[in-house]
Amino acid sequence: MKPSAATLDTLWFQALSLGAIVLAASAALASAYRATAPAIAEAAQRATAASLAEVLPAGFADNDLLHDTVEILTVDGRSLTAHRARKGALVQGVVFPMRGKGYGGAIELVMGVDRDGRITGVRVIRHTETPGLGDKIEANRNPWILGFAGKSLADPAHWAVKKDGGEFDQFAGATITPRAVVAAVHEGLELFAAHRGALLDETAPGNEQAGITNEP
Ligand SMILES: Cc1cc2nc3c(=O)[nH]c(=O)nc-3n(C[C@H](O)[C@H](O)[C@H](O)COP(=O)(O)O)c2cc1C
Repeated sequence: MKPSAATLDTLWFQALSLGAIVLAASAALASAYRATAPAIAEAAQRATAASLAEVLPAGFADNDLLHDTVEILTVDGRSLTAHRARKGALVQGVVFPMRGKGYGGAIELVMGVDRDGRITGVRVIRHTETPGLGDKIEANRNPWILGFAGKSLADPAHWAVKKDGGEFDQFAGATITPRAVVAAVHEGLELFAAHRGALLDETAPGNEQAGITNEP
């Protein structure tokens, strides 16, 4: 049966109305995004700055770490942004993010390493580990994560949790989470060692004058 002219008119009207509603909603979303994007970006910058400061001792740097960055490539080809901590021109250390694979998913952390390859601090910034089990990696729940400060590739000799013959404590009933963090931090130290020259900006004129070499 052929639709009547009135039915066709109704269908056209509904299609056009729907199109208009979709367009209006898209425009409203776009304008809301434009209005909130700067505030979101600013909040993200503040969060990054806070986590950078958390893994460095007070007075360690006098530069703006947020905007003093260098890109390096990880072993799996990912680009990683490291923040340089300087006193004058001399790079005293770097802060960069690392990622481990925990029980509940990715564990994102940030770590600071001084120019001698010693860890200045590590903090977990995001994770989905089980509350009461794996979440002891958070500094505000347990001091465990503070135990990385001062460690380097050579110290301890075996980077593992005690259950695997290493020196880092695991948690009662939760070995997967601390094992993942230990592995990620160790990987971060290897990354630092592999890119030390670039990270410490050793070809920069200021640092050349300081007589810095690539030797540890
Ligand atoms: C519901 C549930 C949640 C768990 N959450 C965690 C967790 O967040 N982190 C963790 O290390 N283990 C967690 N476990 C325990 C692990 O399955 C595992 O038994 C434990 O990490 C010991 O690992 P291991 O056998 O390698 O020593 C959880 C287990 C269950 C049943």
